[in-house]
Amino acid sequence: MKKFIVIGNPINHSLSPNLHNYWLKKYKINAVYEKQRLDSNELKDLTKKIKEKKLDGINVTVPFKKEIIDFLDDLSPEAQKTESVNTIFLKGHKIFGHNTDINGFELALRNINFEIKNKKVFIIGAGGVVSSIIFALKRMKASEIIITNRTKKKAENLKTLFKEIKIFNWGKIPKFDVVINATSIGLKNDDVINLDFSKEENDKFYYDVIYNPKETNFLKKAKSLGNKAENGKKMFLYQAAEAFKIWHGIEPEINEDVMELLDK
Ligand code: ATR
Repeated sequence: MKKFIVIGNPINHSLSPNLHNYWLKKYKINAVYEKQRLDSNELKDLTKKIKEKKLDGINVTVPFKKEIIDFLDDLSPEAQKTESVNTIFLKGHKIFGHNTDINGFELALRNINFEIKNKKVFIIGAGGVVSSIIFALKRMKASEIIITNRTKKKAENLKTLFKEIKIFNWGKIPKFDVVINATSIGLKNDDVINLDFSKEENDKFYYDVIYNPKETNFLKKAKSLGNKAENGKKMFLYQAAEAFKIWHGIEPEINEDVMELLDK
């Protein structure tokens, strides 16, 4: 039986096993998908298991998407550019790392027919997923990408990967068409981002990478002010679907049943 895992720390919250195991059953694939919490010093031994064929694939989540790269033999161009890997498998004899968060984000926006082209995008946060979002936004021809992060150094590090992005000091809001919360603020129900959007025009698009809870305070407020709002659920589904396709050669269906699976 083939074996797949998602690694992270913490990992308990991860819904990847629910989703992948649902699809494995649906498409009658003899495999299992588990989650494993680990520490940095265990990454090397774990990736070796891909070469030894003790493991068939790994998904990587916070905080290892960058760190894991040191233990891989080869990267896709997307993983290389974003310095972020969330999907690992054996390609030839090499432990190969790819990034499906990029297409995950792009397909999520296409799915709701939101046009990024020529839009000014303001990103709050500079954590592991942001380089993927920037990559996708550039591909979709956003006119401007502005980043703010509590720890400015991390935003500056992103600028070394993507020279064209602008950095705004934490606490300030630039002119924007789209604002994306890519921080972890909102994972707890009472979390509030310390930025006041109430004086902004009300025809903007607010996107939150968080999908659990379904509606963060950031999105609640955005809606109450009359803006369009979307959570990170579809991004999560599409990144998982691409990994599934790579590993199993089947493009899994994203339908209402799958959407509901994540609401449990
Ligand atoms: P990582 O930084 O390890 O990749 P992440 O969950 O992907 O982890 O990113 C967390 C993001 O949420 C970061 O942008 C973080 O800001 P810092 O770089 O300053 O840590 C942001 N974040 C988390 N809690 C925050 C808070 N209370 N206020 C402001 N930003 C916060």
